[in-house]
Amino acid sequence: MQLKACCIYSTGVLCILLLIAGIAMVLSQVFQNLLNNRIKKEVVLENGTESFSVWQNPPPPVYMQFYFFNLTNPNEVLDGDKPSVIQIGPYTYREFRPMEEVKFLENGTKVAAVNPKTYVFEPKMSRGSEDDLVRTANIPAVTAMDRYKDNPIINRVISDLMKSLSIGVFGTFRVGDLLWGYEDPLLKALKPFVTDDHFGLFYKKNGTDDGEYVLFTGRRNYRDFARIDMWNGQSSLDWWSTAECNMINGTDGASFHPVITKAEKLDIFSSDLCRSIYALYESDVSVRGIPGFRFVPPSEVFANVTINPDNAGFCVPAGNCLGSGLLNVSACKEGAPIIMSSPHFYQADEKFVQDIFGMNPRKEEHETSIDINPLTGLVLQAAKRLQVNLYLQQIPAFSQTRNIRTLVYPVMYINESIVIDEESAKNLQAVVTMANVVINIPFIVISLGILLGMAFIVLMCRQKVPESSAAERDPLLVS
Ligand SMILES: *[C@@H]1O[C@H](CO)[C@@H](O)[C@H](O)[C@H]1NC(C)=O
Ligand SMILES: *[C@@H]1O[C@H](CO)[C@@H](O)[C@H](O)[C@H]1NC(C)=O
Ligand SMILES: *[C@@H]1O[C@H](CO)[C@@H](O)[C@H](O)[C@H]1NC(C)=O
Ligand SMILES: *[C@@H]1O[C@H](CO)[C@@H](O)[C@H](O)[C@H]1NC(C)=O
Ligand SMILES: *[C@@H]1O[C@H](CO)[C@@H](O)[C@H](O)[C@H]1NC(C)=O
Ligand SMILES: *[C@@H]1O[C@H](CO)[C@@H](O)[C@H](O)[C@H]1NC(C)=O
Ligand SMILES: *[C@@H]1O[C@H](CO)[C@@H](O)[C@H](O)[C@H]1NC(C)=O
Ligand SMILES: *[C@@H]1O[C@H](CO)[C@@H](O)[C@H](O)[C@H]1NC(C)=O
Repeated sequence: MQLKACCIYSTGVLCILLLIAGIAMVLSQVFQNLLNNRIKKEVVLENGTESFSVWQNPPPPVYMQFYFFNLTNPNEVLDGDKPSVIQIGPYTYREFRPMEEVKFLENGTKVAAVNPKTYVFEPKMSRGSEDDLVRTANIPAVTAMDRYKDNPIINRVISDLMKSLSIGVFGTFRVGDLLWGYEDPLLKALKPFVTDDHFGLFYKKNGTDDGEYVLFTGRRNYRDFARIDMWNGQSSLDWWSTAECNMINGTDGASFHPVITKAEKLDIFSSDLCRSIYALYESDVSVRGIPGFRFVPPSEVFANVTINPDNAGFCVPAGNCLGSGLLNVSACKEGAPIIMSSPHFYQADEKFVQDIFGMNPRKEEHETSIDINPLTGLVLQAAKRLQVNLYLQQIPAFSQTRNIRTLVYPVMYINESIVIDEESAKNLQAVVTMANVVINIPFIVISLGILLGMAFIVLMCRQKVPESSAAERDPLLVS
């Protein structure tokens, strides 16, 4: 009897203690803070740590895929018809991008490194070979014609040269040459006036770096982990060089918060665009079972000035706006009339899609996106998709341009992508599971308290019956 009562009262006391402890844990956020400190400790670039070695030699493979547009009707186009193109590819390369010449700066709060990229052809992931032929615009010839269109002496020389070499607006090229460089006959003939007689979209890009990066190590503020401070002396952010790292821009708080929130505005720097753009939260995703937020550049980023007046700065020269979805990058491509867009003119004015037979813009295939695990800020998956176009127009001084209509002509596009590798995904899954358990400990404690409370009430009610019968019996005993 005594033992039973003791049990019941212990249950009651334990229930109250658990409830108090649970509520205290919720209010003090002790586990959130523990987790927070744990993440803070993990995400700092320090010689000898795991995150440092992952940062130095990222395990997930990065693939660069090239797609070209093969022109089927060059003569009709020169007579003023719409171009009709057939997409070929992908020609897939595995990208290796280790961090080299690593130096720690400012008491280990920053780190400087170069990031050379090496491209190795992956025949198994490609459709076709580097020896495939593609008929497309002759970029060096179009550039030369465009540059000297208003110079009557030089344009005559170049026009005659092109005739004698039988070079026109369009030509047929080996895919490998067009990417990695070939000796161009026109540039060779112009040798005294040009610095290099080779041309390639990725000429001299294999094994070379694009300058020194300075990044925050996360020592001062873990939310700065691997964020880029400077690139070649310029302040900027390039998520592509650190795609597997986080690159958020926020402030530290005392209590727990996920590293990435849905309200985050991710700054994306791309040297191909010579500028930075931003991406906003779009949806929840799951990559290899790990929860993530998908960020994509909103359509305003590429909108024309009517829709987004902020884009006036991209109309070069001033006031010369090309329309939604196009960026004139001529100034950062040595004056070549190159215009960037999303593949198949996705999110661009319908006009550019209609101008070319064979364009078929699709969100899933052609948008740039980045999926980030909110808890850790790690990139789960990213795909950068960009199209290289050439501005073609009739130039009276060059009979080669015949009656061609003014066109934003697509040459090729890239899909540079990364997906977290299985090993890292497993590790991250463990962290996410652990975090969920840890964060829920106070609620588990409270639930236990409530369960015990219920047990206590039930036991008390059952106790009442023998107590009253005992009381009934008592007078009998006395008498
Ligand atoms: C990291 O430590 C190793 C061994 O102590 C040393 O050889 C290496 O130079 C260090 N790296 C940096 C970037 O300080
Ligand atoms: C590095 O740390 C030392 C000692 O803590 C301090 O005196 C010095 O100012 C720090 N240097 C920088 C660049 O932060
Ligand atoms: C790039 O360089 C690496 C190593 O130097 C080589 O194995 C690879 O084939 C090269 N890639 C291309 C496309 O030339
Ligand atoms: C591209 O078109 C040219 C000319 O019609 C043809 O010779 C070539 O085989 C085509 N390339 C591919 C990969 O289909
Ligand atoms: C990012 O941080 C810098 C300074 O650290 C600040 O000037 C800038 O406004 C921030 N950008 C965004 C988008 O929050
Ligand atoms: C901008 O785009 C909108 C919708 O696509 C169009 O109505 C408008 O005429 C465009 N403005 C310019 C300046 O191209
Ligand atoms: C692109 O910009 C350059 C100057 O950077 C300018 O000369 C050229 O006309 C522009 N192209 C178009 C199609 O607007
Ligand atoms: C781009 O790469 C991603 C990841 O490898 C792949 O899922 C997607 O199909 C590719 N898209 C295109 C258009 O090649």
